[in-house]
Amino acid sequence: MSTGEQGRGRDWAIQHIPVDEDGARFTLDKLKPFRLAALQHDPDAFGSDYAREVAFTDEVWLSRLHNPLAKTFVAVSPTTADPRGEQGIVASTTVFGPLPSTAEDLHFMEQSGLSAPWSLPVYHVTGVYTNPESRGRGIAKAVMGAALEDLQATLQRADAGHEAGKPAAVIRVDVYAHNMAAHGLYSAAGFSEVESRNEARESSEPGRRILSMFRLLLA
Ligand SMILES: CC(C)(COP(=O)(O)OP(=O)(O)OC[C@H]1O[C@@H](n2cnc3c(N)ncnc32)[C@H](O)[C@@H]1OP(=O)(O)O)[C@@H](O)C(=O)NCCC(=O)NCCS
Repeated sequence: MSTGEQGRGRDWAIQHIPVDEDGARFTLDKLKPFRLAALQHDPDAFGSDYAREVAFTDEVWLSRLHNPLAKTFVAVSPTTADPRGEQGIVASTTVFGPLPSTAEDLHFMEQSGLSAPWSLPVYHVTGVYTNPESRGRGIAKAVMGAALEDLQATLQRADAGHEAGKPAAVIRVDVYAHNMAAHGLYSAAGFSEVESRNEARESSEPGRRILSMFRLLLA
């Protein structure tokens, strides 16, 4: 995999996981253990859980890589190198989309003063995670920023006659209301909270409160 953006004074670099043999090896050797460790360390941050994902076969992990709607960005660092000397993942973000608009998405577009009928594509930011020992150094913000810049460039290529500065997409992230760090991260990245609801549960216990946060991506 190619080494991506590396800032001055940083011991980490951002890259996206390519959909090829290198990307498949990286997914199984690095992303899978990184994700499972995230689910174990921060079980309250995600809609999924360790018991579910540890049972996934390699095919399931690779189907995530091959999902044409998903693109995953990671920050890798030599300070988390494995015994082979290969750099380890310190943070991740996946952008999914375009996905069908929900009532919440349309509500955000209406609140943003966009005129109906709304035709902006909707993308979700998911899988945002930074290793506990690497937090508070701006890594999640940088990985999410790189993922959204890449999306912006993709949208610009698809619409060669785009008008610079016009809204090109809606970006959404769903976050548990108790997750102050994630809320702070998304607020700092320009997301605002528009909708909240209780998580659906099979039992009669009330689910956790989920906030949907949105921002526009400009062309
Ligand atoms: C949320 C999380 C990804 C932040 O990662 P990070 O790399 O430490 O974040 P950054 O250093 O890039 O922080 C960027 C901004 O987010 C906000 N932020 C980060 N951590 C915060 C905290 N603990 N409390 C409040 N705001 C916080 C700040 O505004 C920060 O900018 P600043 O440092 O200039 O003030 C990380 O805490 C984490 O992995 N948590 C567990 C998993 C999780 O909650 N994922 C999100 C699921 S929706």
